[in-house]
Amino acid sequence: MQPIKPEKITVVGAGLMGHGIAQVFVDAGHAVSIYDPDPAVLARVPDRVRDIFRLLEADPAPVALISLQERLEDALDGANFVIEAGPERVYVKREIFAALDALTGPDVVLASNTSAIPIRDIATKASNRSRILGAHFWNPPHFVPLVEVIQSDQTDIKFVRRTIDLLAAAGMSPVHVKRDIPGFIGNRLQHALKREAIALVAAGVCDAETLDRVVTEGFGSRLGVLGPLEQSDMIGLGLTLDAHRVLIADLDRTPGPHPLLEKKVNAGETGMAVGQGFRQWTQEQSAAVRRRFQEHLATEARKRRGARLAARAKG
Ligand SMILES: NC(=O)c1ccc[n+]([C@@H]2O[C@H](COP(=O)([O-])OP(=O)(O)OC[C@H]3O[C@@H](n4cnc5c(N)ncnc54)[C@H](O)[C@@H]3O)[C@@H](O)[C@H]2O)c1
Repeated sequence: MQPIKPEKITVVGAGLMGHGIAQVFVDAGHAVSIYDPDPAVLARVPDRVRDIFRLLEADPAPVALISLQERLEDALDGANFVIEAGPERVYVKREIFAALDALTGPDVVLASNTSAIPIRDIATKASNRSRILGAHFWNPPHFVPLVEVIQSDQTDIKFVRRTIDLLAAAGMSPVHVKRDIPGFIGNRLQHALKREAIALVAAGVCDAETLDRVVTEGFGSRLGVLGPLEQSDMIGLGLTLDAHRVLIADLDRTPGPHPLLEKKVNAGETGMAVGQGFRQWTQEQSAAVRRRFQEHLATEARKRRGARLAARAKG
């Protein structure tokens, strides 16, 4: 376990992702300044972070390490690592990074939590781009350990290494994404699976509920402990090759979003929020799914946090 060197972290954008990212860093002992142009969003941060500590069954005292800032300049004062979690619109992010670049020294890491926008596109209005990189946390960032650290062709590797060290010391599980490609690694894999899932339902092979059961009760039940390539190595690559010879040519290759997805969105069938997506949902059913999801993630996060604190106590 690496020792924690307290840093001054600035989080830009205090919404769904920003407040969770702030919790990760204060829980690791860092001071966090958080900025959001919406004062109401900013004001909710301490309560939202306290809620996370409650779900983790942990002392909420680190909330005191968060300072709320209504001006970006003030939030950046003394910062050595900045993570941006503003809206997922490239023109907004470009302006934010131009301001961050102008307001911070050349050794300050400027990271974007974008889910899919290439880092190079976000950095176009900044002059010192070598410290701009991606730090893609997953939702909810306080419960999902992975962070994809994305290096663009303009990022200096030393800033990638610093980011990885900082995140690992804060109990996250950072990985180095060596090319700045859309969707990075995780979202490419996730959407490759969704593409085939939608195509199977559209072809009448099964309904959406069955599809989800095949994943969660089938190969998904082992995915948390066994990655797909590890699994291929375990069973032997010959078996994977045999399967691919039969299957690959038959997998969906629709050259864009699947027509079934387009049709549903155009019909307003956008999911749980409206009661109809791939499946029909009552409010109670939707609430039960959200509860199941949060309880599962919180239980796992509590275990990891307990193990981390025990390792740190041992030195
Ligand atoms: N929600 C997810 O599941 C998820 C997962 C991974 C990554 N992300 C990425 O994280 C980022 C934030 O997403 P979110 O879900 O937290 O969105 P959100 O809408 O909850 O929060 C965005 C916040 O940015 C603020 N904002 C608006 N203009 C701003 C500006 N100029 N400077 C600073 N802040 C500004 C808004 O007031 C809002 O509070 C996006 O880039 C998104 O793609 C989201």
